[in-house]
Amino acid sequence: MTSPAPSLQPLAPVIAIDGPSASGKGTVAQLVADALGFHYLDSGALYRVVAFATHQNHIAWSEATAVAGCAKTLHIQFKNGHIYLNGNDISEEIRTEAMGKGASQVAVHAPLRAALVDLQHSFRQSPGLVADGRDMGTVIFPDARLKIFLTASTEVRAERRHKQLLGKNQPADYQAILQDLQERDARDKGRASAPLVMANDAILLETDNRTIKEAVDFVLENYQQKMCK
Ligand code: CDP
Repeated sequence: MTSPAPSLQPLAPVIAIDGPSASGKGTVAQLVADALGFHYLDSGALYRVVAFATHQNHIAWSEATAVAGCAKTLHIQFKNGHIYLNGNDISEEIRTEAMGKGASQVAVHAPLRAALVDLQHSFRQSPGLVADGRDMGTVIFPDARLKIFLTASTEVRAERRHKQLLGKNQPADYQAILQDLQERDARDKGRASAPLVMANDAILLETDNRTIKEAVDFVLENYQQKMCK
């Protein structure tokens, strides 16, 4: 008797939301995931965890091989909106401006990006995934069902970040934030490995004059349209 052919399970659908720092894509992506009952991948958090762990281990963020080597030893878990590194909840620690800066610096290293690919793919589970970052639609999930490039002007993004930091009682200087965003944009767009670029088949979502709800609705409407095709 021959055994039945293994059923080929279709891969779960992915909605990729890419864009620059402080564009609000994390908030939009999480709300889209909630609305659809999908899983959510905050890929930027992974680079933040690596910045945090390497800093703790006195590894310079500029050292590509050492940073990638350290990343391979880390046990990173996402549970109920919290992030754990080797069993410790580090959700707060990785959200500082210093770790954001560190994340942007370690993220330029190709060996590190390669070391994080499998972990990111493991989030693709039924019934679907909303993934946010810089290279979700271009490198990690090139077959995503829907690709959104969510952006806003540098000034609006700086204002949003400024407000966010004040809300968390963290030090916030608008001019310093603006300059930092410009530096991060330049680093994200200029790096050789998985630079921040809009995928050819992505839909542009400009959010300067859109509320969060309008941005979420835009993504959901476009997803429904893709599903009906
Ligand atoms: O939005 P923000 O830059 O503050 O933070 P994030 O989304 O948490 O990402 C932190 C940093 O990781 C970014 O500045 C990027 O340089 C990098 N990153 C990346 O290179 N690729 C991704 N898929 C996600 C984030």
